[in-house]
Amino acid sequence: MSDLFEPQERLVIGEQAVLLRGRALAADSALLSAIEAIAARAPFRRMITPGGFEMSVAMTNCGQVGWVTDRTGYRYAPCDPTTGEPWPAMPDAFATLAGDAASAAGFGDFVPDACLVNCYEPGARLSLHQDKDEQDYRHPVVSVSLGLPATFQFGGLRRSDRPLKVPLAHGDVVVWGGPSRLVFHGVLALEDGNHPLVGRRRYNLTFRRAL
Ligand code: SIN
Ligand code: FE2
Repeated sequence: MSDLFEPQERLVIGEQAVLLRGRALAADSALLSAIEAIAARAPFRRMITPGGFEMSVAMTNCGQVGWVTDRTGYRYAPCDPTTGEPWPAMPDAFATLAGDAASAAGFGDFVPDACLVNCYEPGARLSLHQDKDEQDYRHPVVSVSLGLPATFQFGGLRRSDRPLKVPLAHGDVVVWGGPSRLVFHGVLALEDGNHPLVGRRRYNLTFRRAL
């Protein structure tokens, strides 16, 4: 049944890097209510880069540790610097989806301990970067898109490698690891629009094993 109504396309975007179209659709409302519950305790905030710039993407986290940046650098922290409290626990629906998507992409036994929750409003963007604040690059990155569509840039191991432009829609999941674990990636400025469930924004959940 669900195959008829929710075709799940798989698109290879690199070596051990795959877009699983629609993989998160069945869980979308559960994911969205969990995001609201997380943001009620650990509000979205625009963090400051080590270079002193305010990021256009608003962020929060759940899990054992959360990714943060300030003038002193990037790192994973067990507590939310805004509230001083531990980050909200990772909801079961999050960990299950991330583990299932990772194994569908060929990475068995992925148990994330960190989930960065990104909130993009129209115009927000994320410039090319590598995810490299984690301790063990053998674990993949699992990235879930909800809300407005965006253009994901998926490049190579050098910043100068010309990135692929991958359109990401509500419910899409991207997994990258192995030889692609340290590829440069980013998100182009979000175009305005109105998503029926999410409104004028895009959420992204990025699952990682940080510790
Ligand atoms: C990220 O690289 O942390 C986010 C990617 C995305 O928003 O799709
Ligand atoms: Fe990233």
